[in-house]
Amino acid sequence: MKQIKIFDTTLRDGEQSPGCSMNLREKIEVARCLERLKVDVIEAGFAISSPGDFESVQTIARTVKECSVASLARAAVKDIDTAWEAVKDAVDPRIHLFIATSPLHMEYKLRMKPEEVLARTAEMVKYAKHYCSNIEFSAEDATRSDPAFLAKIVDVAIRNGATTVNIPDTVGYTTPSEMRWLIEYLRENVENSDTVDFSVHCHNDLGMACANSLAGVLGGATQIECTINGLGERAGNTSMEEVVMAMRTRGDIYKATTRIDTTQIYRASKTVYDIIGQSAPLNKPIVGKNAFMHESGIHQHGVLANKQTYEIMTPESIGIRADNIVLGKHSGKHAFETRLKELGYALSTEELLRCFEEFKILCDKKKTVSDADLEALVAHSAKKEAKAVGGYELDWFAVHTSNFTTATSTISLKRGEERFEAVCLGDGPIDASFKAIDAIMKPVPHSFAEYTINSISEGKDTLGSVTLRLCAQGRVFPGRGLSTDIIEASILAYIDAANRLQDTFPNSETDKEA
Ligand code: KIV
Ligand code: ZN
Repeated sequence: MKQIKIFDTTLRDGEQSPGCSMNLREKIEVARCLERLKVDVIEAGFAISSPGDFESVQTIARTVKECSVASLARAAVKDIDTAWEAVKDAVDPRIHLFIATSPLHMEYKLRMKPEEVLARTAEMVKYAKHYCSNIEFSAEDATRSDPAFLAKIVDVAIRNGATTVNIPDTVGYTTPSEMRWLIEYLRENVENSDTVDFSVHCHNDLGMACANSLAGVLGGATQIECTINGLGERAGNTSMEEVVMAMRTRGDIYKATTRIDTTQIYRASKTVYDIIGQSAPLNKPIVGKNAFMHESGIHQHGVLANKQTYEIMTPESIGIRADNIVLGKHSGKHAFETRLKELGYALSTEELLRCFEEFKILCDKKKTVSDADLEALVAHSAKKEAKAVGGYELDWFAVHTSNFTTATSTISLKRGEERFEAVCLGDGPIDASFKAIDAIMKPVPHSFAEYTINSISEGKDTLGSVTLRLCAQGRVFPGRGLSTDIIEASILAYIDAANRLQDTFPNSETDKEA
């Protein structure tokens, strides 16, 4: 079996796509998931792109111990200096530098001649190498580049010290047979190509990112670049769960393996969806709710007789537990902690106490607490704690509504020691509540992009999870709230999104008042 490295770019290519931005705490949470998954490389960001990105790359480089940590850099001195400064404290730092190689990109974006691009590559790979031994070179838009030119630039990159050569399908244009051919061609036509890792980085514009990446492996690639849940620009990048499970399930075809702990996949996927305020589409391969469900009678009959009739992989292999033990109001702290440990959570004493208190409150509202409830509760509790540091929090609310009067909502929010109250009328209790929150927080003008309610588990007393998105100045701000009361879940989600909006676009009026 050939060993394939998994290079995760959720925190760079994934995070830079609309609606997926994360704050520092969230990025660290994702990095921890990636470390538990045992990815080989975490691309933590694009250090020069903003001070925030620099800080998160540096923090992740200093935190993560089990994986290499990379920062992206254009082929320019200042980019490389900044990338190095951000990753240098990592256990295994990597500088990932890129330059475009397609005729279109060279002429219209870079305004450089091919010879100049070759010379820049030689110079910048060498420059990066004086900092660090682990250098990745990417030929942006490689799949629309002239293969002979690509071979030349890859040769230059290897001669000057690149240890990984990445072939991105930047616009999701290639096909599996073409990608396989291209990697084979480069392996055959570039001197010393066997001394470096060849990597594939595919976008999903035509729905072929996973297939193209796997075809790259058949052609000789030894690294796949991907993201959790396939997050990424436009239609996204190759999704990690898909490529990893495809290689695991079809080892007979790919003759390749990864060091990924697949039992961490489900949890990592949920964490990332939770952070960006989205849920997996029901039919999403591997992690969608229906991925392991069998509805039709014929299928159910087959699965009952022998699971393999309709199941090519098990839910347990991605970390979904079959023994869905439920806890309830009589469960003590020990049972609660044991179950969380079994689910893979290692909480500090403080976090455990906080979650246990919330668990007890939940038990008063809900007869049984399932694994799904516990996961939601832990994720929600961590978010609440982080928010308490700077943003607004719900103090209390009261709504009055009927089908013959205008709804009224009174909201009290707290920020640190301060309390703020507002009462508003609205078209229903949720509209009235959102207006009252706006009256207190005064966020910049924004529109409402999405509002969904999902149940976390089964039963009438289930926890409701509300996800919504606010849009302002071309950016999307997700919010999520959790409660057995959907009005409260909606209020919490709205405050969450409005806090994120204010983090990016502080409102001088509220700041003055505060
Ligand atoms: O899609 C792409 O070409 C990239 C490179 C910067 C690697 O993300
Ligand atoms: Zn990309």
